[in-house]
Amino acid sequence: MTTTPAQIHRLPASAAPSGMLAELIERRIPGMSLEAPFYTSEEVFDLDVAEIFAKHWIFVATEAEIPEPGDYLTINIGPHSVILLRDDDEQVSALHNVCRHRGARILNEPAGSVGNLVCGYHHWTYSSDGSLLHADSQPADFDRSAFSLRTLAVRTVAGLVFVCLSNSPPQDFDAYAKRIEPYIAPHALARTKIAAQEDIIEDGNWKLVMENNRECYHCEGHPELSCSLFPTYGYEEGGLPPRLRPAYNRYLGADADLKLTSEANALPYARIEELRQGATGFRIQREPLDGAGESFSPDGKLVCTKLLGEFDEPRLGRLSMHLQPNAWFHFLSDHAVTFSVLPLAAGKTALRTTWLVHEDAVEGRDYDVQALKRVWHRTNAQDGTFVARAQLGISSPAYLPGPYAPNEYQVEDFVCWYINRLRAGTGAAGESGEEQ
Ligand code: FES
Ligand SMILES: [Fe+2]
Repeated sequence: MTTTPAQIHRLPASAAPSGMLAELIERRIPGMSLEAPFYTSEEVFDLDVAEIFAKHWIFVATEAEIPEPGDYLTINIGPHSVILLRDDDEQVSALHNVCRHRGARILNEPAGSVGNLVCGYHHWTYSSDGSLLHADSQPADFDRSAFSLRTLAVRTVAGLVFVCLSNSPPQDFDAYAKRIEPYIAPHALARTKIAAQEDIIEDGNWKLVMENNRECYHCEGHPELSCSLFPTYGYEEGGLPPRLRPAYNRYLGADADLKLTSEANALPYARIEELRQGATGFRIQREPLDGAGESFSPDGKLVCTKLLGEFDEPRLGRLSMHLQPNAWFHFLSDHAVTFSVLPLAAGKTALRTTWLVHEDAVEGRDYDVQALKRVWHRTNAQDGTFVARAQLGISSPAYLPGPYAPNEYQVEDFVCWYINRLRAGTGAAGESGEEQ
């Protein structure tokens, strides 16, 4: 019997929300944290995977992680396993890690290097573009061309790698890429290498990990980060508590200096903040750092003496980007650090942190890897504790949604974006977003 490609490629229907979920989405109160099931229910988790992670562009890696043809990563996005592969043409391709014979997972390591892709079960063999090259013991009329590995959309922008599991990825990604590229390109990620990478599993829903990232209300819990990141992040001048006034005054001076330095080095610095809009919500801005203003360190001085790209000015602050739904980034003069959040279960989330330095930087001479990692290694651990506490409290029947403060406006932006995307994806009533 012949199987048609139409039958083979039929996709599972997206997860339509049950009545209970549709009502939860509908009655979300602007300015307040979400109701508990958004963080604790496996049904919401499945909806999040189907509507958010399978329909949007997801930041998963940097090109520097797969520098040579044959280098690959396997990335798990909920139940999906994706192979990211540098192919023979040196392009990054993305394939579903599911054998077209009887479905076995083909690559089982998180990273490595391959020639052809060989399934370990019955040894079907695929080329790096997913074509089926060899399948033993099939009848003479077996049509190999009907059983290539399934591909998915992949984009690279200034050395960052994004995938989209949908057959019709969001169209606004081109405009996003065009706008961020001039900001990031001078940091020359194509000429970096991975100095360190850490994966941690957080005991909390993926949205709590993201919400926690989007405010600095809790930054007193980050003594290492607060040496270089101004604790005034997210505040309007009128809403500053008196204790932050000295830091805010330092921030104003450092920001004025950074604008001059950016202009002198032809670096874009202006804030673009479109966190609620469209499918690919984002924010990007070059912002000053405290102390010496150079890097994330106890005194704000460099943690790698070999600067990125063609930079000869160390005091470039942090070019920071927030991207919905799952990532944030800091690009500095001496290194870059990227963060990718991937959902594991309603109460479990993977956070991958990657530190990149110039490809010619030498460990022990130009940088000490422990010093390079220190601020975000410690900050991630502290944030993990906050996220776990939030998950525990929200899991109590006593939990009620609470109000966001003005300096948590980006948490509200994230939640509005999330609710809007659920409504857009599931056909629920109108978008929210004008509440502020
Ligand atoms: S499942 Fe892969 S070769 Fe059989
Ligand atoms: Fe934090």
